Amino acid sequence: MRIDVLTLFPEFIAQAAAVGVVGRAQERGLIALQGWNPRDYAEGNYRRVDDRPFGGGPGMVMMIEPLRRCLAAARQADERPAPVIYLSPQGQPLTQPLVRELAAMPRMILLCGRYEGVDERFLEAEVDREISIGDYVLSGGELAAAVLIDAVGRLQEGALNDADSAIQDSFEGDGLLDCPHYTHPSQHAWGDVPAVLKSGNHAEIARWRRQQSLGRTWLRRPDLLDEAGLSRADRALLEAFRAEHAARGQK
Ligand code: ADE
Repeated sequence: MRIDVLTLFPEFIAQAAAVGVVGRAQERGLIALQGWNPRDYAEGNYRRVDDRPFGGGPGMVMMIEPLRRCLAAARQADERPAPVIYLSPQGQPLTQPLVRELAAMPRMILLCGRYEGVDERFLEAEVDREISIGDYVLSGGELAAAVLIDAVGRLQEGALNDADSAIQDSFEGDGLLDCPHYTHPSQHAWGDVPAVLKSGNHAEIARWRRQQSLGRTWLRRPDLLDEAGLSRADRALLEAFRAEHAARGQK
């Protein structure tokens, strides 16, 4: 997958994507990332990319022309068409299904805004979709772009070393939260590893993990359970979890 990022801070995006799974995905040639700075496409001695908003008010707005030229250059770097995605708090919320949809694309172009935003005419003419990473306001789109790049990067075939580990994540497959995980030592002052995980009984382990996923989702994100489409067996597991949880609460 190729990702071009229009940003006033291309070095930030490069650094954020240089480490861990996504850094490795780049080394393996699974992701090609390139930053494009609108300032390089601005005119005059000051290379101005922003100006005051019409109608008054605080902050500055990114101007059409530097962005338009910058985007044209980015588009030309590859013959494949690419959707232009603007990161903003007004966008569609980023969820794992949306991440999966984007991860399957051969190419995308991300636009990071700064200041108060981007001239609306540029957005209307050039942007295909707007995506938000949450109901809060960042000072620019770069962190949001880095989040998106990480989430789609790790889903590229061959990016993760253990092929299963993406399927077992929270939200993957069934839309439930992930179960707890443990490693050595099995005994510790802060508690022992649940015995079932050391039993070697794979069916029991799978059952326990499923129950923990269901229970955690019920405790922490009950809104997700409505969408999850639980089977009869799932409902029985959750019922048992709830009974145990209630009994523990009474002690
Ligand atoms: N830019 C500023 N805030 C943002 C958010 N919450 N999501 C995506 N882009 C943003």
